[in-house]
Amino acid sequence: MMDVDPILDVRDLRVTFRTEEGTIRAVDGIDLTVNGDETVALVGESGCGKSVASLALARLVAGPGLKITGGVRLAGRDLPGLSDRELRRLRGATISYIFQDPMASLNPVKPVGAQIGEAIRLHRKVSDIDSEVVRLMKLVGLPDPETRRKAYPHQFSGGMQQRVMIAMALACCPKVLVADEPTTALDVTIQAQIFSLLAALRAELKMAVLLITHNLGLVAQNAQRVYVMYSGRIMESGSCEAVLRQSAHPYTRGLLAAVPRLRHSQERMTGIEGTVPHPAHLPSGCRFHPRCPLAEERCRIVEPEMQTVGEGHQTRCHCWKQLM
Ligand SMILES: Nc1ncnc2c1ncn2[C@@H]1O[C@H](COP(=O)(O)OP(=O)(O)OP(=O)(O)O)[C@@H](O)[C@H]1O
Ligand SMILES: [Mg+2]
Repeated sequence: MMDVDPILDVRDLRVTFRTEEGTIRAVDGIDLTVNGDETVALVGESGCGKSVASLALARLVAGPGLKITGGVRLAGRDLPGLSDRELRRLRGATISYIFQDPMASLNPVKPVGAQIGEAIRLHRKVSDIDSEVVRLMKLVGLPDPETRRKAYPHQFSGGMQQRVMIAMALACCPKVLVADEPTTALDVTIQAQIFSLLAALRAELKMAVLLITHNLGLVAQNAQRVYVMYSGRIMESGSCEAVLRQSAHPYTRGLLAAVPRLRHSQERMTGIEGTVPHPAHLPSGCRFHPRCPLAEERCRIVEPEMQTVGEGHQTRCHCWKQLM
C-alpha cells in the first residue's frame, strides 16, 4: 500500500477546563491518525477523555474555562486556522457524530423523516429532499421508508432509532464518522447489526470511522487499528492484531483481562484495581503507576515516552519488555 495522507491527523491535542477543583486536563497531548478507509478505535475506561477528545476535533466541546490546543488536520485542512463559519460548514460536511443515546439527540415531537431532511438541508443542496430522505432510510436499513418517515422517534425500537441517527449523520456525506459508544444501549444482536451496517457503509461511502468504546471485544471485531487511552493520554497504539494479541502495556492487559474470550495466555490479570485518576490531580511519573502490577521506582518519577515496539505498534511503558 502506498502512503497517503490520513483523512484525520491529530497532533498534541490538549483540552483543559478550569474548575473550582483546579485545571482539569481532560485530554493531555494525544496524537492520532485515521486513514480514509479504516475503522480506528479509541478505547479506555470511563473518564479517560475519549468523548472530550473526539468532540474537540470539531471544536464541539463546551465547559468552564475551556482551552483547546494542538493540531487537527481534517481532509487536508488545518482546523485551528478556520473561522467559526468555516468550522460550522466543516462539521457535518466532513466530520459527523453518532452518540450513545439516540433519544437524547432526536426531537421527540418531530417525525424522523423531517429530522433527517433537516440534516440534509443544513449541509447540502438537494432539490428533492423527500426522496433523499427515503434513500438514506433505505441505506441504513429502515424498513418501509415511504410510510415510516412520517413516524415519530418513540414509534421506533432502540436499534431503529440508532439507524435514524446514522442516517442523519450520513445526510451530509461525511469523510469521518465518529461513533461514540453507539451501541451500548442496545442488546448484543442489534449491536452486531449496527456494526455490520457501519462496516458496509464505510466500504460503500468510503468513509473513515472513529469508534469510541470501553469494550475491547467490539474493537477486536470492528476496528483495524486501536488507540488505548488512559487519563488523557494515549498509552498504546497499533493494529488490533498487535495491540490485542501482543499487548505491550499493562493497562491494555488489564482491559483485556475483562474480555475473557480475548485472553491470549494462561497468565491471569484480575482486571484493574482502582479507578482513573481525577484529571485535576494526576499522579507523578507514569499516570498508570498507582494501579500497575509492574510499577517500579522510575515509573513513579519519570513519565515514559511513546516507544516503538513493533511495526506501527507503540507503547508508553518503561517495563514493556517484561510483557513480551
Ligand atoms: N464540561 C466539562 N467540564 C469539566 N470537566 C469535564 C467536562 N467534560 C468532561 N470533563 C471531564 O473530563 C474527563 C474526561 O471526560 P470524557 O467525557 O471525555 O470521558 P470518557 O472517556 O468519554 O468517559 P465515558 O466512557 O464515561 O464516556 C472527565 O474527568 C470529565 O469529568
Ligand atoms: Mg464518553
